[in-house]
Order: sequence, then structure tokens, then C-alpha cells
Amino acid sequence: MNKLDTTLVISALKQAGFALTDSAKEADVVLINTCSVREHAEQRVISHLGHLKHIKESRPDMVVGVIGCMAQRLGAELLEHEAVDIVCGPAQIPQITKLITQTLNQKKQTIAITEKIRRKTTQNESRALEDFESAYDVEDRQIPAQAYVRAMRGCDNFCTYCIVPYVRGPEVSRRPNAILDQIRKLADTGVRQVTLLGQRVNAYKYTSGEKTYCLADLLRMASGIEALEWIRFVTSYPSEEFFEEILHAMADLPKVCNYLHLPAQSGSDKILRAMNRHYTAEDYLRLLTKARDIVQGIAIAGDFIVGFPGETQDDFEATVDLVKKARYKNCFIFKYSPRPDTTADKRLADDVPLDVKKSRNTELLAVQEKISDELSAGFLGKEVKVLVEGLSKKPHLDSAQSDGNPQLIGRTATDYIVVFNGPKSLAGQFANVKITKTSPLTLFGWLM
Ligand code: 5AD
Ligand code: SF4
Repeated sequence: MNKLDTTLVISALKQAGFALTDSAKEADVVLINTCSVREHAEQRVISHLGHLKHIKESRPDMVVGVIGCMAQRLGAELLEHEAVDIVCGPAQIPQITKLITQTLNQKKQTIAITEKIRRKTTQNESRALEDFESAYDVEDRQIPAQAYVRAMRGCDNFCTYCIVPYVRGPEVSRRPNAILDQIRKLADTGVRQVTLLGQRVNAYKYTSGEKTYCLADLLRMASGIEALEWIRFVTSYPSEEFFEEILHAMADLPKVCNYLHLPAQSGSDKILRAMNRHYTAEDYLRLLTKARDIVQGIAIAGDFIVGFPGETQDDFEATVDLVKKARYKNCFIFKYSPRPDTTADKRLADDVPLDVKKSRNTELLAVQEKISDELSAGFLGKEVKVLVEGLSKKPHLDSAQSDGNPQLIGRTATDYIVVFNGPKSLAGQFANVKITKTSPLTLFGWLM
């Protein structure tokens, strides 16, 4: 979601005549797009601001803006930081050009955030966000031939640990036509893969007259766009609602990638209840079985939080057990980080010591790594189709066999990362790669 917002902001600023620079030292305007989901992400922003304060000492005219979730969460408090000139929440990014111009001209601090973040979005706000969204500019994509498209904003789920409902506001599904027009426009300009975004994208629901559209409908309609080749969606929430319809769409529609990101968060029913997740470990595993029955070869990824308040060794063991049973392609594992004003923070003590959180994190990663390694090994000797993203940053392969070609990175429809040597010109195109070596998170091979 943040990457998409960054792209939209860059696009808007370029249209307004600004040019991008990689160096903060050279910039007239520095924007930091922020995430509030864990404290660590916020601490990094504060440390960036400290660095910018130093630069500003010699360049007092430089304008610094904090945009996104942290801006919404902290509001005016951020303006007290010596480096900060602009504070702009996620719902206000359509105003970013105006805010910057004002600040540059008038040399005074500006703030634009939503006063009451949980009240219903007004029509004017929705319209501003829609207009901004559809101004998406093709030049600014970081990965060629790929784009994110928002299906939904906000979240109403209120998992007790999560800040998102308080910074991104109420859940709103965008109009199907707005989404499809945008995808069509992107496909016309060379985009081959779109990823539909939502905090619970599988809960997408839009009623127009007699008809209620769900994510499966969006996938079906998007599949009809000829130039588009791959369609993904993230993130899914473990619930029965629409689940089978979406999986059938995945199984039936060749363009829909067989990949599901379905965070479980914990394997302990007690912790799941305390997290307000509305399912048990058994319910969750039943969903995975259903997904694997309906979609052959589906790859599933998960998220877990370790060290949630009250998590005992037994609760953690239940999580380990779930990870072993789930056989994820990969997992994202986080140490619980109390977020101000969330229910967990208000009602529950952060009582799992940091060293226990760390050791549980390491242990769970090791369990998952073994599974990932086994699943990756199954690709040895096979040929896979990838969408090439560009140059791979790290040296992985034997350069003697490269034919002078650089190392490229691509992804399969099931989200496996594949590294191979090939011409740079392949970026943004599909390629077939024969897998000759595997590791838990990366496959290596030769271009066919
Ligand atoms: N502490 C740690 N991890 C969190 N996540 C969300 N909120 C928190 C928190 N307070 C994790 C969840 C979610 C992912 C995006 O971030 O696992 O799926
Ligand atoms: Fe946060 Fe839960 Fe909403 Fe995901 S579903 S964004 S974890 S409140």
C-alpha cells in the first residue's frame, strides 16, 4: 500500500514539474512516506529526520514532509521536530503538491490529516482520492511492466494489535469500473502484471443496483483485458466469506496467479481470540486444505506475530505446530510491537520479554526455512516461467558461465524468486528458466 502511495505521489509531483533526485543533500523537497505498523519502522523515520535536520542546518530552505500512516498517527506532534515542515496523512496525499507549493512559498509549516479517522469518508474525500488514483503515471514504476492497483482502502477488522484501522480509516471498496479502467489504462501502456491491493482484499464487496461484486468478479473482469497477463491480489484474511469463489476464479482463470498470502498470526486459539481474529487454528488449516484442493500447485505465504501479550511456551508451540502443518512457501515473522491506542496496548501488558520474542522469532524462522528449502528443492531440474524484474543486486551465480550477461531476477506466478543470467533487455518480459540450484528463498537457473 505504501509503495503504491509513493508511486502516486512521485507521479503527481512530476506532473507538477518536480524532478526526482536520489540524494537528499541535493533535494529542495524531501518526503518520507511512513509506516506505523511496528515501532521499529517509526524509529527509523525519526532517525532519518535527525539526519535531515543536520542537512537543513546548511540548507534551511529545504522542505521536509512526513506523509502516510505516521503522519496520521502523530499529527501535530511531528511538527515539533525541527526538521519537519509538512505533515500529510494517507487520505490527504491528493493535496501533496498544493501543500509543498504553499510551504515553499510561505515558508511556514503545514498539516493535513483526518481529524476523526474512523468517521465515514465523505464524498468529496472519496472523489479526491479517486481522481488522484486514476492520475497514476506510467513512468514512475520501480519494476517494469508491473503495477499495484488499490481495490480497497482502510480496514474495519480491528485485530487488537493493529494500528491500520486507526491510520487508514474505515474499509471502503472502490468502484469496480474505476479499478478496471485503471487496469486497462495500465495494460495499454505496457503493464503485464497488476497486483490488487487491500488490507483484506478477499473481503472486497461493492454493491451497485441489484449486483454485488466480490473479488472473484474483479478477477474475472480483469482477466478479460487482453494485454494483461498476470493478476495477483494481497492480502487475504482467513475467512469463509467469498473464499471458495475466489479460489475457483484462481483455478479457472489462467491469468490469476496461484498464490495466496493468508496471514494466520498465531497457532494458539487463546491468542487468536485475544487478537480478535475470528477463527481457530483448525478453521485456518481447513481453509488451507480447501485452497489446495481447489487450486493445484497453489503457493501459500503466511504472517505470524510472536510474543503477543500472554503468549506462553505452549501457545508458541501451537504456532510452531501450525507452521509445520501449513507448509508455507514462505512466512513473514514479526515480534509483537505494542502500538499506541490499539486494544491490545490499552488492555494487555506487553509481558513477553524481548529475548523470548527474539528466540521464538529465530526458532519459527528455522522451522519455516526447512519447509521452504524442501519445497524449493522440488523445482530442481524443472522449467519455470518468470516475469523478469530487472538486475539482481547480489552476486549469486558462477560468472564464468554467464556469457557476459548480467544476473537478473524474476518471479514465478507462485511468487518464487528466480535468479539467472540474461540480457538486461529482458526486464519487464516473460522468460523461461531451467532450475539448476535451489535455496530456501531463491531458485537459480539458466535462461532457456
Ligand atoms: N506488532 C508486530 N507485528 C504486527 N503486524 C501488524 N501489527 C503488528 C504489531 N503491532 C504484522 C502482522 C501483519 C503484518 C503486516 O504486520 O503480522 O500481517
Ligand atoms: Fe490490521 Fe487485522 Fe485489518 Fe490486517 S485485518 S489491517 S491485521 S486490523
